[in-house]
Amino acid sequence: MESSPVAASAGRFLLVACRGGAEAELVRRQEAVLPQIRKAAWRRGVVTFRLDPPGQPPFDPPADFFPDLVFGRACIHSLGQVTGHDDAARVAAAIAVAGTGPWQAVHVWPRDPACAAPLEEIRDRLVAAVGLASASGLAAPGDQVLDCVIDSPERWWVGWHRAATPPSRWPGGIYPGTLAPTAVSRAWLKLDEAVATFELRLERGQRAVELGAAPGGASQRLLEAGLDVVGIDPALVDPVVAAHPRFTQWRKRARDVKLREFRGFDWLVCDMNIDPVSTMESLGRIATAPGVRLMGIIATLKLPEWSRAAALPEWLDAFRAWGFRPQARQLSTGGREVCVVARPSKP
Ligand SMILES: C[S@@+](CC[C@H](N)C(=O)[O-])C[C@H]1O[C@@H](n2cnc3c(N)ncnc32)[C@H](O)[C@@H]1O
Repeated sequence: MESSPVAASAGRFLLVACRGGAEAELVRRQEAVLPQIRKAAWRRGVVTFRLDPPGQPPFDPPADFFPDLVFGRACIHSLGQVTGHDDAARVAAAIAVAGTGPWQAVHVWPRDPACAAPLEEIRDRLVAAVGLASASGLAAPGDQVLDCVIDSPERWWVGWHRAATPPSRWPGGIYPGTLAPTAVSRAWLKLDEAVATFELRLERGQRAVELGAAPGGASQRLLEAGLDVVGIDPALVDPVVAAHPRFTQWRKRARDVKLREFRGFDWLVCDMNIDPVSTMESLGRIATAPGVRLMGIIATLKLPEWSRAAALPEWLDAFRAWGFRPQARQLSTGGREVCVVARPSKP
């Protein structure tokens, strides 16, 4: 059980950040995996949940609950909101609410990524106010993190969480990595975030096949990790990737590749811009094919509308039926989609 580093009575609300537009799907997911709490309020990019709804016994969520929320990027125990006539006054108000700790890290992040507040400056002030020597924005596992969520430049929410999973060590759950200047597409960064989020061990000499590989950013990231890669896509892959000695393209649709050709791959990566039901069909066909022994699947399921995520439990069950343990997350560098990483149930 988590306990608040400040008043035991404080923080009976959870504040969960998500991509703008995903709020309803976040609540749907919460109702399925954490029905003990109840939605209290929402604004674009943030939903708050009451931890002890009327008529229900007080509930302390387990420390590791938030990965199951899929659409929840960051999850903090709320301590209250602060206002003030300038940043110095708001920092003083935040410290009055949160106390000086002990805090091991300070995360300052905006509800709306377009917010113009000086995040670094606010963080430096808070770091100094709680007497932290290190100014690193990233938390270490186990750190007690003071969160300051910038709702608007004039109004902040203060809260806390315990760092555990990789995204919980990043302010607001936003991946801190940046797109490599040589990357041929943003999918490079998406795969980079998936690797960091799910702590995937991609190793030199492993073989990956990617469905929907063009123009090639994700394949490029796999090649950089030392893998041999086959990219399947009717569209052309960028010449930089196509020329790589460990890359081969099969210029076809996924369903036109014979099942026996998928033997010998360790990783099945998939990022096709097609309906998620068709993506699931392709994945199932390959994952269950005779002679195919995968170490893992890294799949993007596109959501033509957010509401299509209602089928997520069904899709995750399908992965289980194929003999895999799936985990899902709406990556911070991805669009309206869910990343599913699945490892074999029996190693
Ligand atoms: C979002 S892009 C993939 C980006 C890519 N992963 C990268 O790293 O740059 C989607 C790709 O899926 C491909 N695609 C769509 N349907 C496909 C199918 N049935 N089989 C293989 N590729 C398909 C499209 O041609 C397109 O290049």
